[in-house]
Amino acid sequence: MKGIVLAGGSGTRLHPATLAINKQLLPIYDKPMIYYPISVLMLAGIREILIISSPEYIDNYRRLFGSGEQFGVQISYKVQPRPEGLAQAFVLGADFVGTDPVCLVLGDNIFFGAGLSAALKRARDRDAGATVFGYHVEDPERYGVVTIDAEGRPVAIVEKPENPESPWAVTGLYFYDNQVVDIAANLKPSVRGELEITDVNRVYMQRGALHVERLSRGYAWFDTGTHDSLLEASEFVQVIQKRQGIQVACLEEIAYLNGFIGRDQLIARGELFGKTPYGRFLLRIAEDGL
Ligand code: G1P
Repeated sequence: MKGIVLAGGSGTRLHPATLAINKQLLPIYDKPMIYYPISVLMLAGIREILIISSPEYIDNYRRLFGSGEQFGVQISYKVQPRPEGLAQAFVLGADFVGTDPVCLVLGDNIFFGAGLSAALKRARDRDAGATVFGYHVEDPERYGVVTIDAEGRPVAIVEKPENPESPWAVTGLYFYDNQVVDIAANLKPSVRGELEITDVNRVYMQRGALHVERLSRGYAWFDTGTHDSLLEASEFVQVIQKRQGIQVACLEEIAYLNGFIGRDQLIARGELFGKTPYGRFLLRIAEDGL
């Protein structure tokens, strides 16, 4: 399975200066925002990753991650000339995806919760159709919204409805079989001029092939599209990390525990980060695991 992170330049609820320096490279507490979605792909066991971003930002990601070998993954890069929608990821990334299934994660979405790895592996192991993750929210009108019937099947999916029928937001993490490449290639832009991921999901729903996995109580999901949510996500990560003495979205840790890198590589990375809590954490994992 291939993985795509879309770290585009759109976003209208943030100060223009924040967007100008590329939001996904801002830190959420102690590490760049994009670490969090990359960690989700790696937790799903995905090792071939494409980062898509706008022409002015793409080289920042290249500088940050290079080939990805420090995490035992292969990272490649693709420019999205204009922010023309999330589903464009499958048009731009068609060659990268090839004949594989693919997972798309948005560069500004943060997921955390016990059981996340298992939920990701379930989605990954489904050989046909699509899996999306629903999250119960206070303000569904900000998101794609899915209505689920008594049997847990999706019956409607709408992008940013004025009057949402349900409290279940569709989060920015999507697993698809290879049909998504054709579906995306045949989409028409919406009224806001974008290839909508919600339209892709609706095609799967109409084919009876859309699975909605509800993230239950206790999961954290942040879409960092507002200044408040940026701050809240940082505070959340800070509280968990300080209280439990662990790191959230520590890419070297995930790589090591998944067997993508060996102990020597983990130690080398720990030494590189020297006296920071992140570096000390890597050395501790190398010493005694978790
Ligand atoms: C996008 C999707 C929306 C989804 C959201 C999750 O919205 O269009 O369906 O719920 O991401 O973060 P956008 O961030 O483009 O407003």
